[in-house]
Amino acid sequence: MSAHPTYMLDRCEVADSHTLKVYRENGGYEALEKVLKTPLSPEDVIAVLKDSGLRGRGGAGFPTGLKWSFMPDVAKDDRPRYLAVNADESEPGTCKDRVLLREDPHGLIEGILIACYAMRAEAAYVYVRGEYRLPYERVAAAIDEARAAGLVGENVMGTDFSCQIWMHKGAGAYICGEETGLMESLEGKRGHPRPKPPFPAGYGLWGNPTTVNNVETIQNVPFIVSRGAEWFRSMGTEKSTGNFLCGISGHVERPGVYELPFGLSARSILEEVAGGVWKGRELKAFFPGGSSTGVLPAGSIDVAMDHDSVKGAGSMFGTGAMIFMDETTCVTRIAEVTLRFYEHESCGQCSQCREGTQWLHQIFRRIERGQGTMDDVDMLSTLASGMAPGKTICALSDAAAIPTHSVVKHFRDELEEHVRLGRCPLAGTSQPVGAGA
Ligand SMILES: Cc1cc2nc3c(=O)[nH]c(=O)nc-3n(C[C@H](O)[C@H](O)[C@H](O)COP(=O)(O)O)c2cc1C
Ligand code: SF4
Repeated sequence: MSAHPTYMLDRCEVADSHTLKVYRENGGYEALEKVLKTPLSPEDVIAVLKDSGLRGRGGAGFPTGLKWSFMPDVAKDDRPRYLAVNADESEPGTCKDRVLLREDPHGLIEGILIACYAMRAEAAYVYVRGEYRLPYERVAAAIDEARAAGLVGENVMGTDFSCQIWMHKGAGAYICGEETGLMESLEGKRGHPRPKPPFPAGYGLWGNPTTVNNVETIQNVPFIVSRGAEWFRSMGTEKSTGNFLCGISGHVERPGVYELPFGLSARSILEEVAGGVWKGRELKAFFPGGSSTGVLPAGSIDVAMDHDSVKGAGSMFGTGAMIFMDETTCVTRIAEVTLRFYEHESCGQCSQCREGTQWLHQIFRRIERGQGTMDDVDMLSTLASGMAPGKTICALSDAAAIPTHSVVKHFRDELEEHVRLGRCPLAGTSQPVGAGA
């Protein structure tokens, strides 16, 4: 349906796309062959990645080639090294990696093999969200197929490159998607994030050099190696290159996962891709990149969806998971539900986060029920300022503070109206998807 060139989801449309046979019929493992048989050196591969401008798709948008180059020099450090693939996908609104895991598992495996070759990693661990049963089974079956075909394990494609791929199932904790929490969990411990530094490239899994990358990030790698950095840079914007998978949810006519180039306006994504706000209603607000990114008012709908532009609009690109809310939505209620999530998911190590998420949730709940005071509105900002930025071990605290600040900034009138009326001014209209007790 897209007027823009696509590549990531093309294969997913083909019947039995998850099998090795179909993957190979559609150009699969040619990029790996190019790397191993040309051969390209690990440094060559990292150079192509750097040149492509690929940025991580896990939320922070960190340049991938640069991250890979942080792995220590093998001549000076002979510890085993690993890749951890983050398939925990728990950020509310985000559902893109699921499609890739389920429909294109060999694309992920090929990307993993190239990444391990480039970083001289001997093994990769794929950490899959526990609820993703079919995606897990598809990736596990694809690894078995690839191993039987000599693509995973010892002497890949008959060369002296060897690489193992192992899988791990998460158990429902959002915090295990945070890279150091993920590594703790992989090591069999509670998913408590570790303070940084030391960073994973120096001290990762079992104290060894490790790189953590998101599924979609890794899935881009074979395409870049096959088609070149220039091709990749021809899509998107100067600083946000390539396409991204945009998960669209909320009050729209056509929710779903779409492959889009960076730089399209949020308006064109809403109107042309998602079919507009549902039921002919008006837009009230939207999260541009998952619940951890600041909520933006309808007036920001012309923002371009790339890292710099969304930041300029006062939010973050995040995971590109856009959640649209129509005019009947109580944003205070959205904030209450969102903060309830962060309170529940806080691992409790840092007092700012453990206490702050609880207080923010309680205050939003109080205001939404018409029991709040005007002081409560200011208290939200004061508390959120004490929680972030960078005041805690990991960014979950920031993820709770950022939407809080944005709600106070853009929807202060609505918060105050709750206080003045002593009830929700929107009571009786529609409630957010997923609203609970
Ligand atoms: C609380 C929290 C949860 C996260 N959850 C995920 C997740 O589910 N998937 C993911 O890829 N990254 C997640 N991240 C980001 C990771 O820590 C890490 O930055 C990312 O996996 C790096 O991959 P990339 O460079 O390819 O983007 C989370 C971060 C935080 C703070
Ligand atoms: S910020 Fe929150 S989730 Fe992260 S380590 Fe601290 S308490 Fe745990």
